[in-house]
Amino acid sequence: MSSYFDRVGEAAAFVRARLNGLKPRVGIVLGSGLGAAAEAVRDAVVVPYGEIPNFPQSTVVGHSGRLVAGELGGVPVVVMQGRVHYYEGYTPAEVTFPMRVLGALGIRAVVLTNAAGGIAEGLEIGQLVALSDHINFMGWNPLTGPNEPRFACIPAAGLRFFDMTEAYSNELRGLAKQAAAEEGFAMAEGVYLATPGPSFETPAEIRAFRTLGATLVGMSTVPETIVARHMGIEVLGISCVTNLAAGLGATQLSHDEVFEAGRKVEQRLARLLERLTPRIAER
Ligand code: 6GU
Repeated sequence: MSSYFDRVGEAAAFVRARLNGLKPRVGIVLGSGLGAAAEAVRDAVVVPYGEIPNFPQSTVVGHSGRLVAGELGGVPVVVMQGRVHYYEGYTPAEVTFPMRVLGALGIRAVVLTNAAGGIAEGLEIGQLVALSDHINFMGWNPLTGPNEPRFACIPAAGLRFFDMTEAYSNELRGLAKQAAAEEGFAMAEGVYLATPGPSFETPAEIRAFRTLGATLVGMSTVPETIVARHMGIEVLGISCVTNLAAGLGATQLSHDEVFEAGRKVEQRLARLLERLTPRIAER
C-alpha cells in the first residue's frame, strides 16, 4: 500500500497533467450552493473528482464535485466546486486530502467558502462574513498521527507543532473587505465554530456556542484550514449565512433552506472572488 503522501502526489500529478501548463496561484473551495464562481473561470479545464486517483467523492446534493482550473480575474486559479464532509463518513485524512493536493499543485493562498448558520445578533440571511478565527468543535484534528514534513509548501512549514494565532490571514481578510466595499456591500467578520454534523444544533447548544464566542456555525472549513496552515498556505475564510441557528430564526432548519439561500448569494460571491483573486495573487 502506498503512503498518504504518495497518494496525494499521484492525484496532484494527474491533475497537473490535465492543466496544459497552467500554474494555479490561488485555490478556491466553494461550499454548499455556492458554486457559481466556477462559471466565471476562463479557459476552464474541468476535472470531475471521480477521475482523479484517490480523490474523495461528494455525496451531498448541491456539491457538484469537480475541479475547475483556469483564469479568474486574469490569475491562474484552481476551484474546487464542492467538497466532502466528515458527516458523509469520510475520515479526517480523506476530508483534507483535496487541500493537500492543492498544496502539491503549488497554490500559496486558499479561499475557503462555506454555508453557515448565524449565531451572533444582527446577522442576516445572505450575508457574507470573513472569518477572523475558528473554534474546532469537530472532536478531532486532521494532523493526528505521524507528522509529514514533506507536505510543507514553504521552508518554515510542515512542523509537528505550529502556531494558529493568525490562522485566517489578516491581510487577506482586509483585501476581502475592501473588495466587498467596492462591490457595494459591507463584509462583517466573525468566529466560525465547526461541528461534526450532520444534525443541526439544539437551541441549548447554540446558546452554549454563543457563550464560547462563536459568530457562525457550520460543518466544514476548520479541518481544511488546519491542514493549509500546516503547509504554510495562507487562508481566507468566507461564510455565507444561509440561515439563523436553532432557536434564533422563525423557521425549522433544513438543507433546502441552506441551499436556497446559497443560490441567492452565490452571484455576489462570484463577483467578489473575481475582484479579489488578482489582489491575492499580486502581493
Ligand atoms: Cl445552523 N449548523 C451547522 N452545524 N451547520 C450549518 C448550519 C447550522 N447552517 C448551515 N450550515
